[in-house]
Amino acid sequence: MILVTGANGHLGRGIVDQLVARSGRVAGIAASVRDPRRAADLAERGIAVRQGNFDQPETLAAAFAGVGKLILVSTDGPKEVRIAQHRNAIDAARAAGVRHILYTSLIDVATDSPADFAAVHRATEADLAASGLEFTALRNPLYADFLPMTVGAARATGVFQLPAGSGRACFVSRAELAEATAAAALAPALARRVYELTGQATHDYHEVAAAVARVSGQPVRYQAVSEDAYADALEASGVPGWLARSLANMYSAVAAGKFDRVSNDFATLVGHPPRPLACLAQELFGAR
Ligand SMILES: NC(=O)c1ccc[n+]([C@@H]2O[C@H](COP(=O)([O-])OP(=O)(O)OC[C@H]3O[C@@H](n4cnc5c(N)ncnc54)[C@H](OP(=O)(O)O)[C@@H]3O)[C@@H](O)[C@H]2O)c1
Repeated sequence: MILVTGANGHLGRGIVDQLVARSGRVAGIAASVRDPRRAADLAERGIAVRQGNFDQPETLAAAFAGVGKLILVSTDGPKEVRIAQHRNAIDAARAAGVRHILYTSLIDVATDSPADFAAVHRATEADLAASGLEFTALRNPLYADFLPMTVGAARATGVFQLPAGSGRACFVSRAELAEATAAAALAPALARRVYELTGQATHDYHEVAAAVARVSGQPVRYQAVSEDAYADALEASGVPGWLARSLANMYSAVAAGKFDRVSNDFATLVGHPPRPLACLAQELFGAR
């Protein structure tokens, strides 16, 4: 049985849908969520829905019972909280007899990264390696889905600001990342422990601005700002302090080149590469 954690979240739900679509069946597919009432549609489709909360490890023995492959969707929250949540999930998986964990990691796990997010994923990958279980790290790039939020200010002012310098990153949609994750879970065997689910090209945010301007017909410009200025502005707009700082130091990691990676791993798993920036920009910003 393959079980997806976080199946009420965007990525987790997408992975469940892709497992069903790619395998053509619901038998053998299960979902773990904190609130099963919000997964009633999955149960109606015949998918086994279990209650599991990484903050309540006592819930996880029943959630993970009989599971062979666990797709561990990373949680959200402050750094230490997430590391502990993932550790609880890994410990419970081992105790329940799970054979293989596929983990939705991040492209940036560098030890010298300024990003809190890198520290979380590096710690969880280390916990997976220490667990003795078979594991696969599916390192996700930046979600393309967040570009409208990132570029949002430019709708009013023509300018968006980030502390990303002239660093390069690639952007892949959550829907496509869900597809690659499901493909990895359904593969009879995987050749490697780490897959980098990047697009085929990286871009700096000047190029992102140009791509958005091209399809929206609006002038859009990117302006690099300092990490502190960006975090302060986010906090002033109501974003919780830990998240404002984590987003800011993630963009500092972009500036430092930590997201400047491309690989063919996505195509190896799915059979074709993910959509390029021009297509994503058309979908997300195209004049309708
Ligand atoms: N690469 C990127 O650009 C990027 C951007 C944002 C986030 N992420 C990471 O990718 C993950 C999935 O993204 P998303 O857009 O699907 O996020 P989302 O819709 O906000 O979902 C958050 C997920 O975290 C799970 N979760 C939170 N606390 C948990 C707990 N105590 N126990 C078990 N599960 C818990 C939720 O489980 P339920 O289903 O039970 O609600 C949910 O699936 C995020 O959680 C984050 O780690 C990556």
